Amino acid sequence: MRNLTTETLPAAFTAPLLDWYRENARDLPWRHTQDPYRIWVSEIMLQQTRVAAVLGYYARFLEAFPSVEALASASEERLMKLWEGLGYYSRARNLQKAARQVAELGRFPDTYEGLLELPGVGEYTAAAIAAAAFGLREAAVDGNVLRVVTRLTDCHDDILSPQTKRSVRQQLQAVMPEQEADIRIFCQATMELGATVCVPNGPPRCEVCPVRELCLGRVRGTAETLPVKKQKKARRIEEKTVFLLLRDGKIALTRRPENGLLAGLWEFPNAEGTMAEEAAPAQLAVWGLNPKAWKSRLTAKHLFTHVEWHMTGYTVEVTGAGPAEWEWIDRAGLAAHAVPSAFARYYAEAQKLLEE
Ligand code: ADE
Repeated sequence: MRNLTTETLPAAFTAPLLDWYRENARDLPWRHTQDPYRIWVSEIMLQQTRVAAVLGYYARFLEAFPSVEALASASEERLMKLWEGLGYYSRARNLQKAARQVAELGRFPDTYEGLLELPGVGEYTAAAIAAAAFGLREAAVDGNVLRVVTRLTDCHDDILSPQTKRSVRQQLQAVMPEQEADIRIFCQATMELGATVCVPNGPPRCEVCPVRELCLGRVRGTAETLPVKKQKKARRIEEKTVFLLLRDGKIALTRRPENGLLAGLWEFPNAEGTMAEEAAPAQLAVWGLNPKAWKSRLTAKHLFTHVEWHMTGYTVEVTGAGPAEWEWIDRAGLAAHAVPSAFARYYAEAQKLLEE
């Protein structure tokens, strides 16, 4: 693709940005440490997830696993329970895999390339850790940073293209500060400007921007139209029928396969497709169960990155054994199993049912 932009980020960007950050940055827990473990955990949690959603999880996680060794030896159940509700669960599994690598190595990798070797650590995360924990001159490029730089340079290239990302990273590398203390905060500062001033979805707050005088997007009036993001493919829709099956005051849970979406987490038994109520007893028969009473029908929708689940749920009192690998659990048991938020509506209903 032809590069539409001829402007580059001016070196005069850096000093006012750092001054502004020191005065105005949000007080976030991972900004008080240079410990690579704590910075790494924060960056993994912040992937695709808002700061406000991460804060509580971050505190609980570090209390449970205060060191990389503690995380390396954690039980899977405990780990997934602490991640429950945060989404993108492969992040938690990769975190533990990486912790085991680090524990075996005896130290945290302290180069960009070394960090890239860790499961779950991509270019952005490797650069963010390298800069904040080790003071290395590595520019981290996330969505916030792409927005800031494309607006500053009035760049209309597609930010989903790797070429645009590479160019933005090169431009940032060129204006990176020299002092270690500045390097540690430079990426954070660019991100912070994107998160709090050069905001998405609506007008940027140019009146409080420390680099407003340099911003071509502001001068040319294009800032609000940037960045350019070419439409991605629509999500694939999967329909499902979910069963809240009650037997003697307990509800059925089953474990998802070890691979794929939400691997290894717990879910309510379900089947592909949207089943009419008349078709559902046949499905119960497949599981060796007999319906005693139908209670309610509950629909829900959940969006993943590439897939969208459209769910129809039935609450049924049953008798019969059911598949051997299922678990029948009470309310306390439910709390001890990691059920992903895709099932939040059914989880809440199950809690109610188990109270009755
Ligand atoms: N998003 C990704 N990394 C972040 C960080 N370190 N601080 C705030 N928001 C972030």
